Amino acid sequence: MKIDVVTLFPEMFDGPLGHSIVSRAIDKGIVEVNRVNFRQFGKGKHQVVDDTPYGGGAGMLLKPEPLFDAMESIEERSPETKKRVILMDPAGKPFNQAMAEEFSEEEHLVFLCGHYEGYDERIRSLVTDEVSLGDYVLTGGELAAMVMIDASVRLLPNVLGNAASAQTDSHSSGLLEHPHYTRPAEYKGMGVPDVLMSGNHAKIDEWRHKESLKRTYFRRPDMLETRDLTKQEQQWIKE
Ligand code: ADE
Repeated sequence: MKIDVVTLFPEMFDGPLGHSIVSRAIDKGIVEVNRVNFRQFGKGKHQVVDDTPYGGGAGMLLKPEPLFDAMESIEERSPETKKRVILMDPAGKPFNQAMAEEFSEEEHLVFLCGHYEGYDERIRSLVTDEVSLGDYVLTGGELAAMVMIDASVRLLPNVLGNAASAQTDSHSSGLLEHPHYTRPAEYKGMGVPDVLMSGNHAKIDEWRHKESLKRTYFRRPDMLETRDLTKQEQQWIKE
């Protein structure tokens, strides 16, 4: 997979791209990440990328030309790829696991990160998706893009050590994940449920499913609104 990040602050990505799982995916050649600083396409000696809004009002807006030129430079470098162009926008569609799964199947993702008050509206003609990290306003789109890159890259084949671990994640099954325990069996007076040490895998699977369901019901009942519960599941919730 190819990823381009169009940003005025490319060095902000050093941390997330330079550590742990995403960094290893880059080293293994599973994903290639390019950072494009659109300041280089700014106008004049000072490489200006923003301007005041027509009609007046507070704050500065990103001008269209530097972002159009940045997109053209990506197209020239990778003319053959099919691109998903994602605008980081607090007014966009809220990001979720289903979107991460969709993004992870794309050939080439381009993340456009804004700063300042907003964008010239014509920038939207460059994009296929407008996505928000959540219902709050960040100082720029970079942190949102980092989260979306991380959530998408970890789903690519051969990125996680254990292929099964992405499938049992909270959210991927539509339920929150069940509790986990490791050694020691007793710690500061706290034990481990007997069933997990029973060796009975059918019973263990059942316990995990039940705990996932109960956890979802108590913490995120909204996630169950569109799910048809079996008789057994309805019984577990009442326990
Ligand atoms: N830019 C500023 N706030 C944002 C948000 N919540 N999501 C995506 N991009 C943003």
